[in-house]
Amino acid sequence: MKLLVVGGGGREHAIIKKLKENPSVEKIYALPGNGGIAEDAECVAIGAKEIDRIVEFAVENKIDYAVVAPDDPLVLGAVDRLNEAGIACFGPRANAAIIEGSKIFSKNLMKKYGIPTAKYEVFTEMDAALDYLKDAPIPTVIKADGLALGKGVVIAMTREEAYEAVRSMMADKVFGESGSRVVIEEFLTGPEVSVLSFTDGKTVIPMISSMDHKRALDGDMGLNTGGMGTIAPNPYYTDEIAKRCMEEIFLPTINAMNAEGRTFKGCLYFGLMITEDGPKVIEYNCRFGDPETQVVLPLLDGDLLTIMQACTNGTLADTPVKFKDSAACCVIMASDGYPGKYSGGFEITKDADIEGEVYIAGAKIVDGKLVNAGGRVLGVVAIGDTLGEAIDAAYKNVAKVHFDNAFYRKDIGKRAMAVFSDN
Ligand code: AMP
Ligand code: GLY
Repeated sequence: MKLLVVGGGGREHAIIKKLKENPSVEKIYALPGNGGIAEDAECVAIGAKEIDRIVEFAVENKIDYAVVAPDDPLVLGAVDRLNEAGIACFGPRANAAIIEGSKIFSKNLMKKYGIPTAKYEVFTEMDAALDYLKDAPIPTVIKADGLALGKGVVIAMTREEAYEAVRSMMADKVFGESGSRVVIEEFLTGPEVSVLSFTDGKTVIPMISSMDHKRALDGDMGLNTGGMGTIAPNPYYTDEIAKRCMEEIFLPTINAMNAEGRTFKGCLYFGLMITEDGPKVIEYNCRFGDPETQVVLPLLDGDLLTIMQACTNGTLADTPVKFKDSAACCVIMASDGYPGKYSGGFEITKDADIEGEVYIAGAKIVDGKLVNAGGRVLGVVAIGDTLGEAIDAAYKNVAKVHFDNAFYRKDIGKRAMAVFSDN
């Protein structure tokens, strides 16, 4: 089979490596891929948002199956367009991808169908939003309605910060049109859990749970990033919580999308917070998480392509999905300065005795050498029998990967491990 994967980050590298395990896969094209993915797939210089060119490429190259990984092309209708051209795809159509593409849509969906989430108000006028904030409980959370590269959420710890966030989104348009409408919501507390799930629109099968580390610095300090590391499974996600999530969140969401005529097929990501009142939805993503995928897929005990095709064909109920009884840790190595200004062009090398995967996110090949060319450069992953072992092994691997301006968090998994000493 000839496959095409749209996207070019660490998540796509992990997806491609897992897809390659299927012996019927002869060829994988990555659009655009990156310098590291080029070891595992043929990279083609077509951007993930260039839908016309993606469809044209897929048809010309007689692609048997396409995986659209990032949010932008999904929201822009890449799956609809590929399907119209006769190409089978993994991923939701645009009318279902809106669950990530519009926070107002997802919040209203949850309210309508009684799915637990933070209380909220929607604002389309800045003055009304500012007025509401005069008496709103602080801290409060301001979210731009549309996609904003994962940056459209501000946790305002003071009223002044809240006003400022609304002004910058609605007047200064720092996120463009994404911020012309905003959601202001209740600040929730509790450990966060990411649950990626496979769904064919009828059956939903959660993958092994994980935990992201979004802040740039140790101790969850510093700016928000695309994610500085992950662990799986997430020890806060107990069997009891998992059962509640299935009954109160996962199935109701799939059913709600069907009831709205927006059947969701693909990977539905539930960003959850385990509050004192039970699990609540912080956000939905219409795709695999990054860097959650880098710890979840190495633990998948089975064939990814078969499961993806079952999501497309509506046969997920008959398809076994199993995860290894192990743990994984991914430490992201970034270019120093990220998420602010950073430089690149430093050669990336790894020692030969590294055990585990290195998924490349931001790198290119210059004069035959792999050099960093992005904020988040790569994710170093290790598997262990226990979470503690996985974390230790991941950091041993980090010491075996080298580039001059590497920066990484030293405490990935620390919050998760605390659960064992707290109890
Ligand atoms: P997002 O960009 O939607 O992934 O949100 C970024 C982060 O903001 C989440 O991972 C949470 O840590 C935090 N967050 C979002 N909504 C809330 C909320 N209602 N209460 C507390 N924290 C939140
Ligand atoms: N790790 C969070 C995300 O993929 O949005």
